[in-house]
Amino acid sequence: MLVPVILSGGAGTRLWPVSRSAYPKPFMRMGDGESLLKKTLDRALRCADDGTVLTVTGRDYYFLTRDEYAQHEGANLDTLPFLLEPAGRNTAPAVVLAALHARDRVGADATLLILPADHLIRDLDAFVADARRAAALAADGWLVTFGIRPTHPETGFGYIRMGEAIAGRDGRGVAAFVEKPNLQTAESYVASGDYVWNSGMFCFRADALLAVASEVCPDVLKAAEACHAHAMNHESPIEFDREAFLAQPDISIDYAIMERAPKVAVVPASFDWSDIGSWKAMSDLEAEADDQGNRVRGQAIVVESTNCYIQSDARMVAAVGVQDLVIVDTGDAVLVSHRERAQQVKLVVERLRATN
Ligand code: GDD
Ligand code: MG
Repeated sequence: MLVPVILSGGAGTRLWPVSRSAYPKPFMRMGDGESLLKKTLDRALRCADDGTVLTVTGRDYYFLTRDEYAQHEGANLDTLPFLLEPAGRNTAPAVVLAALHARDRVGADATLLILPADHLIRDLDAFVADARRAAALAADGWLVTFGIRPTHPETGFGYIRMGEAIAGRDGRGVAAFVEKPNLQTAESYVASGDYVWNSGMFCFRADALLAVASEVCPDVLKAAEACHAHAMNHESPIEFDREAFLAQPDISIDYAIMERAPKVAVVPASFDWSDIGSWKAMSDLEAEADDQGNRVRGQAIVVESTNCYIQSDARMVAAVGVQDLVIVDTGDAVLVSHRERAQQVKLVVERLRATN
């Protein structure tokens, strides 16, 4: 049985001032008014065999997340259980806890489809078809990744070297999984044509994931088991003993499991995908550009300017004679950044944290 698991954590600091710790990236609205989180729930429900979708998120985001889900007309909150974290411990503990929960509560044949809450995918039919391909591989015990054709040597992603086709299935073996290589390595991977990006979505049987975890990261599994055994309740929203939760190692599933697992497969994605890693990525996705390549969301007047992205929720923004700028106004904060320097917006957040 296929059970999607929505992972929602982390502030997405490169999308400041819209994404903040009180209102992180999954809650960010796209041009159509829908949040990334609601779009993720929609994707999940399309793949859920019996309507069950598990969400692992911080306890501070519980009510905000439910409110977002309630806006989805197909959502029945009774079949959307939550695992609430007292603090983030990264994705390996989150996924292993979800697998332990699914094994005990859903059943031995539970197959998980891990979906980060902050990705944008528009071709939903292609996505569902690829998820089904992945589930077929997962049934044979593979830990399945989704491969995205790389467009540039991004160092913030995992890279997958594709291996042999898997007989009778729509997917390939993974010859190597390398999380976040340095720039030089990423450049050689992209040039070789043998590598795809790891999308950060995964599909595997809960029992297969737990068996691999016991081999490659027994510390993560042991700590999660202790946490699971001492859950403070068994009905949603499930909360954990704070001390037991924080005793888990802070490590991602990519480093803890995917780089080391013996039986990893990849389904080359036939859908479009973006993790909206920066305002530059956001501007490429948003709205139609004018003749000068400017994109505007909200209120703005652009005069003799080229290649700018302007987003303003409240006030009128005017740009005159400027090029390649990102301008984002949330009413209480204004970001002005060069388009090509948008990755460094995270430094603003670091500076704010240091001074507050
Ligand atoms: N519940 C929960 N708890 N979710 C978390 C936590 C946590 O402690 N930490 C991260 N997440 C969620 C994030 O909200 C995001 O949706 C997803 O898990 C992935 O975490 P990121 O922190 O964004 O990972 P990354 O971007 O550095 O790298 C991953 O994604 C890339 C693609 O976007 C890796 O899987 C890379 O290999 C991959 O290329
Ligand atoms: Mg990410």
